[in-house]
Amino acid sequence: MSNTLVVVGAQWGDEGKGKITDFYAGGADVVVRHQGGNNAGHTIVFDGKKFALQSIPSGIFNPHIINIMANGMVINPVSVIEELERLHSAGITDYKLYISDRAACVMPYHAALDGAYESLKEGNQIGTTKKGIGPAYKDKYSRVGIRMGDLLDKEYFADRLKNALLEKNLELKSLGLPTYDFDALYAQYLELGERLRPMICDTSVLLNRLIEENKKVLFEGAQGVMLCIDHGTYPYVTSSSPTAASVPVNTGVAPRYVNNVIGVAKAYTTRVGEGPFPTELFDERAEYIRERGHEYGTVTGRPRRVGWLDTVVLNHVRRISGLDYLALMLFDVLTGLDKIRICTGYKLDGKAIDYVPSTINQLSRVEAQYIELDGWSEDITGVKSYDELPANAKAYIAKVEELTKTEVVVVSVGPDREQTIIRKDIF
Ligand code: GDP
Ligand code: IMO
Ligand code: MG
Repeated sequence: MSNTLVVVGAQWGDEGKGKITDFYAGGADVVVRHQGGNNAGHTIVFDGKKFALQSIPSGIFNPHIINIMANGMVINPVSVIEELERLHSAGITDYKLYISDRAACVMPYHAALDGAYESLKEGNQIGTTKKGIGPAYKDKYSRVGIRMGDLLDKEYFADRLKNALLEKNLELKSLGLPTYDFDALYAQYLELGERLRPMICDTSVLLNRLIEENKKVLFEGAQGVMLCIDHGTYPYVTSSSPTAASVPVNTGVAPRYVNNVIGVAKAYTTRVGEGPFPTELFDERAEYIRERGHEYGTVTGRPRRVGWLDTVVLNHVRRISGLDYLALMLFDVLTGLDKIRICTGYKLDGKAIDYVPSTINQLSRVEAQYIELDGWSEDITGVKSYDELPANAKAYIAKVEELTKTEVVVVSVGPDREQTIIRKDIF
């Protein structure tokens, strides 16, 4: 058993990463969120209570766990404080949380620009969460970003903000948007920095020390590999990389610590936002799955698009992220379907292919090829062990393992922490 485990979304996000992270957090010492920001919505259910986390790591409910928001994230301080207040009012007050001084800070102009750029793309929208994620990463890479540690140094922050506003106000003006006044923004973000000061530190130093002390570390990804800026369905992606390979850069640890990866996949597929989706369903089966799975976005409330499980996608993710194991989520949602399909390959212009084409032009033309399996009708939401599952449910899992060459070590049969079937201890 390894001392680290990476939780990777193996589809287009919302696979149940929050549930899996919270589940494994029971045996962990540290939980690290490594990319994305409050575009994520990770749902955790236990003791009859439901929580939706956005930027805060899913280990927050465990008082002994050290939670880290790493340098690869884009952090909106206003949203973090609101999230903490929500946790406090739900009685979650005993926790350990650290924020990287090198993480990018999401500023109010980022959200404004996110919305404006989406409007400009009339008819070609990405369907972003409008949280300013893309513009914040853009500023990071064009070197005009503000980092969380900057907020703690008055003079330095003043320079950084002046420098940023020089560009940002020009950009906002050109889009017909209101510009930002230095004094007001400076005062507001200095104050936010002061509130978060006790949590802001060099999290790479902290994390490396914990790893040297042999602590057990969970790396929690946001989004999914199909939304990866490099390996996803570009341009219909987010602006960071949710792969396991990005963990070392995003957290400041050596790659040798990232050797144990669990891919989290729904037993079917969903996607929220625009972009190609080869196994998408448009009939009453989509409606059935959407209603049973409560497939409405955690962050934006949008109905999620629904389709069959796609093993071309899972194999793409396995190759890129090196999946050692799979967690098969929302398995209970498939109950009651007479026949269940799994996509095993694509046809592109009449030719069989087993990979995800790089252009949207090609990907939107592929025809998914399926096998069909018999469904089951028994309620499985109370099933505690793999052996108790109906034969057809077991056959479905075996087929997924065969097609992805990856062991399904977790089968999730309901949103609650308790509704989790463990087939093998991996962490
Ligand atoms: P994440 O973004 O990957 O953490 O996933 P989300 O929280 O956005 O979406 C997953 C949704 O499925 C949440 O509403 C969970 O509570 C719910 N969920 C997770 N596992 C299961 C499961 O096995 N069965 C059912 N019915 N719901 C689940
Ligand atoms: P979790 O961590 C599902 C999608 C958006 C949009 C695209 C770009 O909960 O799985 P962005 O605001 O990131 O620039 O939007 O990415 N998206 C997600 N979809 N789950 C998420 O996170 C997502 N985060 C972003 O809907 O299509
Ligand atoms: Mg989500």
